[in-house]
This record gives sequence, C-alpha cells and structure tokens, in this order.
Amino acid sequence: MEKLISRVFIAKVDELPKNLGKRVYVGDGNLELAVFKLANGDIRAIENRCPHKAGVLSEGMVSGEYVFCPMHDWKISVVDGKAQGPDVGCVKTFKVAVEDGEVYVLLGEAEEASLPSECSHS
Ligand code: FES
Repeated sequence: MEKLISRVFIAKVDELPKNLGKRVYVGDGNLELAVFKLANGDIRAIENRCPHKAGVLSEGMVSGEYVFCPMHDWKISVVDGKAQGPDVGCVKTFKVAVEDGEVYVLLGEAEEASLPSECSHS
C-alpha cells in the first residue's frame, strides 16, 4: 500500500533570500527543516539538525550546494544530505516542489527514501 505524501506550503520563492537558510516547522511541528535557495535558484530542504552535535543548519553559511554547520563547521551537502570528508554522517533530504511561485515540501514516502544508504539510523 502506498503511503500518503503530503504537500506542505513553505514560502513564496521570492521570500527566500539566496544562500540563507530558513527554519521551517512541518507536520505537527515536530519536524524541523532547513530550506535553502541556492545561488543557481534551486531550492533544497534538509533536516535542520547537524549529524555531529545537532547544530542548527539553517543558521549555517551556504556555498554552492553545501551548508557549513555554525557549530563546528562540518560541510554538508544540501543535495544528498551527506557530510563531506573527513567527517561522516548524513541528514535527511526532502523533496521540494515549486508551483506558481510557491514552494512546497513533500512529506511521506519521499521522506523515508531520502537518507543515503551508507548512513546508519543510529
Ligand atoms: S554540530 Fe554541526 S559540526 Fe558540530
């Protein structure tokens, strides 16, 4: 049986500044996302919790397709959620849809499939 995928409005595209993170609560408010509009215009959403010691990634500096955690500077891909070497770890990534200038995050089945396979669920 397919899982329901819900679509949650996040912001208008124009409201998201480039290369700055936005903290967004979705679901029952239990899930916290970091949403980024990259320099190339792509919009990405990841779990707003660094795999190292839970730094707030939406407050990190963005460069290209990476965010640097404000706590200890881990470099994390906002595309696949992987920490870059020598650090090891991942954050969940979430699918994003843009329609009529509005940004939505897709939750449900897509969320479950978003953790890179080499990352453990510890
Ligand atoms: S908490 Fe993110 S690098 Fe340490």
